[in-house]
Amino acid sequence: MDTLQAIVIGFWVFIPALVPNPAAVLFGGGLPVDLGRTWRGKRVLGEGKTWRGLIGGVSFGASIGLLQLLLAYNYDRQGFDVFGSFPESMLLVFALALGALLGDMCGAFIKRRLGMERGAKAAGLDQYDFVLGSLLLALLVSPWWFGTTFLQGDGIISLLTILVIVPVLHRTVNIIGHRLGLKKEPW
Ligand code: CTP
Ligand code: MG
Repeated sequence: MDTLQAIVIGFWVFIPALVPNPAAVLFGGGLPVDLGRTWRGKRVLGEGKTWRGLIGGVSFGASIGLLQLLLAYNYDRQGFDVFGSFPESMLLVFALALGALLGDMCGAFIKRRLGMERGAKAAGLDQYDFVLGSLLLALLVSPWWFGTTFLQGDGIISLLTILVIVPVLHRTVNIIGHRLGLKKEPW
């Protein structure tokens, strides 16, 4: 595997984790996940984490992942087959999508405990909470896939690619969302 291929694979396998956050902005609203409950005087998660955002975001991310699997199935000789074989691959793309929004909710939980209001900027946490959640859940679901994809050979380049592109993509997408009037803050 060469470097360029490792970079493309890093980006490709992380698509199901990149989609849920912007999708949650589109689908979000309504009933908050924490049902309005508070803990030690602050909201558990806050109004920014809703059931519609969670379910819509995970469904959309996993659906894009399934499309990627379909591509892999039809063009496997071109090297698209990077999620492993059916049916574990389906579980994996679902885990990447779900993990992203679970990580995002953990980030919100931490922000509320630090006394930060909904939408307050938390450098580092805002960009990487979903990355950590996504990678952790993928690791739990398939340690073997995680090891061969990110830890063996040039896999570390794929992992580094994810860590480098995420803040750039996150910022770009949020600025676009803000300009389009979909998102309150440009971060
Ligand atoms: N969103 C949602 N449900 C989720 C995640 C996000 O409805 N599970 C929607 C909300 O409308 C939210 C927007 O997407 O305001 C942007 O998400 P994010 O930036 O993660 O939330 P913040 O509003 O910044 O809130 P927090 O400070 O809790 O991160
Ligand atoms: Mg935010």
